[in-house]
Amino acid sequence: MATLAEPKQDFTRLPDLDPAVFTAPLKRPDHVGEDWLEPKQTEYDSEDDAIWDDLFARQMEVLPGRAATAFLEGTEKLDLGRGGVPDFGVLSEELDKLTGWSVVPVPMLIPDHVFFWHLANRRFPAGNFIRTRETFDYIQEPDVFHDVFGHVPMLTDPVYADYMAEYGKAGWKAMRHNRLKALGALYWYTVEFGLIEERPGDIRAYGAGILSGPTEVVYAVEAESPNRIMLNVDRVMRTDYVISDLQPTYFVIDSLEDLYHQTVERDFDRLYRQLDPGFTYANTAVIDVDHVVNRGTLEYTLRGGRGSGAKPV
Ligand SMILES: [Fe+2]
Repeated sequence: MATLAEPKQDFTRLPDLDPAVFTAPLKRPDHVGEDWLEPKQTEYDSEDDAIWDDLFARQMEVLPGRAATAFLEGTEKLDLGRGGVPDFGVLSEELDKLTGWSVVPVPMLIPDHVFFWHLANRRFPAGNFIRTRETFDYIQEPDVFHDVFGHVPMLTDPVYADYMAEYGKAGWKAMRHNRLKALGALYWYTVEFGLIEERPGDIRAYGAGILSGPTEVVYAVEAESPNRIMLNVDRVMRTDYVISDLQPTYFVIDSLEDLYHQTVERDFDRLYRQLDPGFTYANTAVIDVDHVVNRGTLEYTLRGGRGSGAKPV
């Protein structure tokens, strides 16, 4: 099968993408440049700050013992509970000292190739707005709480910080091979919904999609419904996922080093050539090669999930 030539990649600037590479047709707002960065962070009022504080307090009720140690330590190192929406300048200064990362404001979801470029340069793009009381429990578009509270604490860990930068570098290659769906599944099952077994039987969440909401933390770590399977990169990149409901299956790592080595040392060129353009496995599947930690009952999913009234048990 023909593959696109691999140019030596320069990550200091946005790439000139081959016209054959598909990029999502997002309309860039007039006030942002090619980098999609907002000129400055939003000035939040006292109600916005109160929303952050209430969201923070709600998560801290459920996270001890369920969130990865690196995450909990990260929230303390960055003092995310100091009150109100964090200032990105202050946050970036702290983060830069720890792992060389910064946090930059973006207006909305940004195009994939721009997102990868920021990650490759250790800049984490975070939504420049916060949800309202009406959308307190669930919003589709990631806001500053999801992005900063959910993602940034893990970036204080040096190994995870390197993983995220390498993920960004891997993005342009996936685009040239037309295998963005596969790389997206890896992001989904690690950065957004990853679990880690810190000690035998002690499973915790490190994925931002789990850690930024109250229901999925308990479900992902403790419920009988979902499958929990040890991460296998080749398998995960072939697996479909759920976007707006609790996951039927989670993938577990035994350390952040394990995550880094499994992905960074994998020859993605070869993998992309073998992959189908679509997904091979349903999100509920347990297959022969799986190292299963807990086989789920799938009760929540089979009862119809969100909207059916099924309990996340
Ligand atoms: Fe996210």
